[in-house]
Amino acid sequence: MEVLLAYDHPRWEEKELARGLREAGARVSMLNVARQPLSGSPGCVLVRPVSMYRAYYTSLYYSSTGSTTVNRPEVIRAAGDKVETLLLLSGRGIPVPRSMIALTGEAALAAGEAIGYPLVDKPPIGSWGRLVSLVRDPGAHRDIVEHRDMIPSPQLQVHIVQEVVEPVGVDVRCLYVFGEVPACMVRRAPRGEWRSNVARGAGVEPFSGGEAAELAARAGDAVGGGVVSVDILPGSGGMVVNEVNGVPEFRGLARASGLDIPGIIASAIVSWCRR
Ligand SMILES: Nc1ncnc2c1ncn2[C@@H]1O[C@H](COP(=O)(O)OP(=O)(O)O)[C@@H](O)[C@H]1O
Ligand SMILES: [Mg+2]
Repeated sequence: MEVLLAYDHPRWEEKELARGLREAGARVSMLNVARQPLSGSPGCVLVRPVSMYRAYYTSLYYSSTGSTTVNRPEVIRAAGDKVETLLLLSGRGIPVPRSMIALTGEAALAAGEAIGYPLVDKPPIGSWGRLVSLVRDPGAHRDIVEHRDMIPSPQLQVHIVQEVVEPVGVDVRCLYVFGEVPACMVRRAPRGEWRSNVARGAGVEPFSGGEAAELAARAGDAVGGGVVSVDILPGSGGMVVNEVNGVPEFRGLARASGLDIPGIIASAIVSWCRR
């Protein structure tokens, strides 16, 4: 079984996945898609670019040339676009934060009136908490809209205007692997930060799944399966799914759970590709 690992930045995750794949008996080749064009038709492709578009086109290319891709292009697109994720999840009856989709700054301010302040305003694309804003009042919202309007990217003119799910600064991250949820953890934002991204310095703690794991399994199925991570906000009114990541990072989860997460993912992928 040959597995091509396609990446753009070789993080700890990519190195550990390559090790796990070899230990699971795969022949692994690596392709840096930031340096080389897409080529060949390997049996199985593990899609790991950090850039959503690089990941999407990598997956689209290899799935159209007959390779098994993890994740499939539909999954990468659905998870990579927060509007699409929210619609897929709520369409399946999975609880999500109360949200309005606004296609211009003006519409975002109107959504703000309807949702009420404080609120969260975020673009449909992005990661590591970038541009995810806690907006305290209409004046601050106008400032954010003005800044977004100056960024020459059509997607950044789209605003997801959301209720603030209290308590802020804490969420549950679960890993979904082909229908199973092997591990979850709690992420807690550092002092002075309201977003609980590990990339922003959040601390991680072990957490045994329960209701969160069940929600994560439903959310992973809703975006089309594969290997994804699911972020859940433990709101005072019940848990809601905040987002799904189609190229998940899992260094924090490996630390919190003490499990060989890359090994678990790699052996599941090898079995999946052998089917
Ligand atoms: N509606 C919300 N209510 C409370 N906290 C939120 C909300 N949306 C986002 N956050 C916080 O901000 C962090 C980053 O937001 P998220 O939508 O996951 O974007 P990213 O893809 O950049 O991680 C979340 O992990 C969470 O801590
Ligand atoms: Mg997130």
